[in-house]
Amino acid sequence: MIYSIKGFDKTKLKLHETLFHNANGYLGVRSCFEEGYPEGFGTIRGMYVSGVYNIAEMPQAEPLYGFVDKKQAVVNIADAQGIELYIDGERFSPFDGEALEFERALDMEAGVTCRRIHWRSPRGKEAEVLIKRMASFVKPSLFTIEYCVTPLNFSGEIRVISGLNGHVTNHGNPGDPRVASERRRHMDVQDELVIDGVDYVVSATSRSGIKVCVGAGHKTRGLARSGPGFIGIAKPGVALVLEKYVVVVDSRRHKDVLKAAQKEMQALKSELSSHYDAQKAYLADFWERSAMEIEGNGDLNLAMRFNLYQLLQSAPEDSVCGMAAKGLSGEGYEGHCFWDGEMFAFPALLLTQPEIARKMLMFRYNTLNAAIENARFIGHKNGALFPWRTINGTECSGYYPSGAAQYHINGDIGYAVVQYWLVSGDVEFMQNAGLELLLQISRLWLDTGHYHNGRFMINGVTGPDEYTCMVNNNYYTNALAKHNMRWTAKLAETAGLASAAESLGIRGEELKAFRQAAEAMYLPYDKNLGINPQDDSFLQKPVWDFGNTPPSHYPLLLHYHPMHLYRFQVCKQADVVMAHFILEDEQSRETMEKSFLYYEKVTTHDSSLSKPIFCAVAAKLGVMNKATGYFKDSANLDLRDSHGNTSDGIHTANMGGTCMAALFGFAGLRINDEGISLEPRLPPDWQGFTFRIMYRGELREVRITRDGKGCAVNGVKTDGGRVSLRHLSP
Ligand code: BGC
Repeated sequence: MIYSIKGFDKTKLKLHETLFHNANGYLGVRSCFEEGYPEGFGTIRGMYVSGVYNIAEMPQAEPLYGFVDKKQAVVNIADAQGIELYIDGERFSPFDGEALEFERALDMEAGVTCRRIHWRSPRGKEAEVLIKRMASFVKPSLFTIEYCVTPLNFSGEIRVISGLNGHVTNHGNPGDPRVASERRRHMDVQDELVIDGVDYVVSATSRSGIKVCVGAGHKTRGLARSGPGFIGIAKPGVALVLEKYVVVVDSRRHKDVLKAAQKEMQALKSELSSHYDAQKAYLADFWERSAMEIEGNGDLNLAMRFNLYQLLQSAPEDSVCGMAAKGLSGEGYEGHCFWDGEMFAFPALLLTQPEIARKMLMFRYNTLNAAIENARFIGHKNGALFPWRTINGTECSGYYPSGAAQYHINGDIGYAVVQYWLVSGDVEFMQNAGLELLLQISRLWLDTGHYHNGRFMINGVTGPDEYTCMVNNNYYTNALAKHNMRWTAKLAETAGLASAAESLGIRGEELKAFRQAAEAMYLPYDKNLGINPQDDSFLQKPVWDFGNTPPSHYPLLLHYHPMHLYRFQVCKQADVVMAHFILEDEQSRETMEKSFLYYEKVTTHDSSLSKPIFCAVAAKLGVMNKATGYFKDSANLDLRDSHGNTSDGIHTANMGGTCMAALFGFAGLRINDEGISLEPRLPPDWQGFTFRIMYRGELREVRITRDGKGCAVNGVKTDGGRVSLRHLSP
């Protein structure tokens, strides 16, 4: 399937840099024009490597004890995108002359992006420039550019100069707290050399001590080396081609980056076409497992494909780092990983590519010691507290009320571990990592909470809704803590994991304490409204004056002081509704329904994470008109740039959330110890919905079709009820 746009739109350059970026879980390259833009046209020209960061100061005006004053920031590595083209002496740029045709495309089966321009130079020379780019999924260190020029109406000289520039900076915007506030140079060039005709730049971050080597080698057709570039004779209709092979390696994964880059470069013996073939084969396997097919709505289908493809591009290739909120597509949130990975991107990957889900959890396991240290630093005697935002495992959130206070990140990771266990049954993972993660997470809950009048309470935390901070008994947090502790106790006594529990030193009294706290967990409930209040004080506050808030004042976070927001009933995103989504047995259906309607009225959806969850819950509740509306907005969020900041990077959580909404909302998937079951409800314009699930190592196809007023799954009538995956014919 291909996503494409036609026409040269100078106003959307940064947006398209994001939408057409190439990434493979290790490296990401924004889709900037090789030839650059003229002065005055903004660009975020960037190439990033998963887990490669610098340390930046984050000065606190009043540095109270324990305030974080340093953060990690993703770094822009040496720019290998540059290629200048001269057509008989005239420099190619679609900004000059005329772009008679201009097209960009992302081919999600081939795993390449293309830019095609039929250009007429100011002096009337015409040529077709076709540029194909690929970040290889098979060879993650490799990024290629195939640059093909076909003269159309002239003979003369073609000159191409391909660059590798280590002198780069990161992007900054002082007006938006969601990106770095200032432009910074994070990497210094240490060495620039040419070995066997290949250019190498070795750079090092100024403070974190990470080195990166970028190498660029070339192959040509119809062009020969000359001076700083390549030269060829133009003949109408005869293509001249430059193939640029870029390899990237970093010192978090390799000792000697130059040597490693040389090795990678030398290993690139095969033709570009065979790299394309390998990419295609990789994606054929990916789509075989992951494709979701919506019958009857082509636009949504394309959007879903796009979202799934972006999840794959963003999903970590190893466990050095997790999935950043923007994947590898931009510098938004400075490359940090939040709960977005575990709670939004993870579920769809878990059900189709469990090996990726495992890598994501292993990143958390690899940073468990840092989380234990973090907990001690904050004052906890026991347990681990994972950072709200991070690249290397230590906390990067400078504003703790809507940052580090989001203790639910712990619960989210614990929840993901349990989901992974339920779907994969991977004993080895649980023995070596999963159980220990759960143990440390549950210990933290015991250490954070306390008993009051016989109930277990967790005070002074922030839930998912960042417009309501530092509260007592956030429903979402408490419900998750309960889930974490229950499962830790249960798994520690599960056959096959008992020896792991023993070697972790888990004691009987500790399990008892987890069970007791889980049992006694206080989950706020308001009898009058019949809903779960978001926290102890939420319902006491006045409701935000939505009627007098002009549309231009959204997102509220850019227009109102946080303290002002905190005093009202106004939610940035799903909070209680999120709890209802993931822990549907915790309350009655009636409560869920009432909560949904209540919170819908006070939620702005200023976070891109919100609508997919409202969609899923609306679908579960059978409010199909609402579910359908939320789904459409959600599925197209980046394609339509509806939050206005896709230029800073894609919204991976929203993309994963959209997939969850389809699977857990419309297909009504449910995962528990009894297996996987479905309770489908399709939106009115969907004729059918087909997807695959990898459950316990077995790939199953699920096809939901309409059947009278209800639905059938693989031909089995559901009559509005639940059907187990076990009972479906393959
Ligand atoms: C949301 C968080 C999210 C973060 C990164 C914020 O706007 O409120 O829940 O983790 O963005 O996507």
